[in-house]
Amino acid sequence: MTNITLTIIKPDAVKDGHAGAILDQITKAGFCVKALKLKQLSAVEAGQFYAVHKERPFYNDLVNYMCSGPVMPAILEKDNAVADFRVLIGATNPANADAGTIRKNFGKSIESNAIHGSDSDENAAIEGAFFFAGLEVC
Ligand code: RTP
Ligand code: MG
Repeated sequence: MTNITLTIIKPDAVKDGHAGAILDQITKAGFCVKALKLKQLSAVEAGQFYAVHKERPFYNDLVNYMCSGPVMPAILEKDNAVADFRVLIGATNPANADAGTIRKNFGKSIESNAIHGSDSDENAAIEGAFFFAGLEVC
């Protein structure tokens, strides 16, 4: 599938009340929401989600950040979803993100950068199944 991606509105953005504005920007960019929930991750769940970064120096901080408050994961549909969504969210570090991107608009730092986007079609499918059961996807 090349038309699905998984996003997470991260704890800082949810806490600061930006979830509505971020979802508005996402849907105005042509993405259709197929599944959405509010979820408090445990440390184990956050660690599992970002297991690919287990050896990175920022891993423990990242896990603590991702379970510091509720997140809002969503499955999004659009042609070329993964690549187009990475453009919409911008660079990992909001300081380097293009003007108008979600991370430039709402990110605070390289860690508290407001939003996640899948990096491949394969990972989009894995991450979608991590957060949502089949019956939760429209
Ligand atoms: P994401 O997976 O959340 O969409 O972010 P990304 O692909 O742009 O960046 P990635 O390298 O996968 O990093 C995952 C998340 O880890 C935090 N991070 N902190 N302190 C640091 O140097 C650092 N580097 C990355 C960010 O929250 C990043 O989104
Ligand atoms: Mg990544």
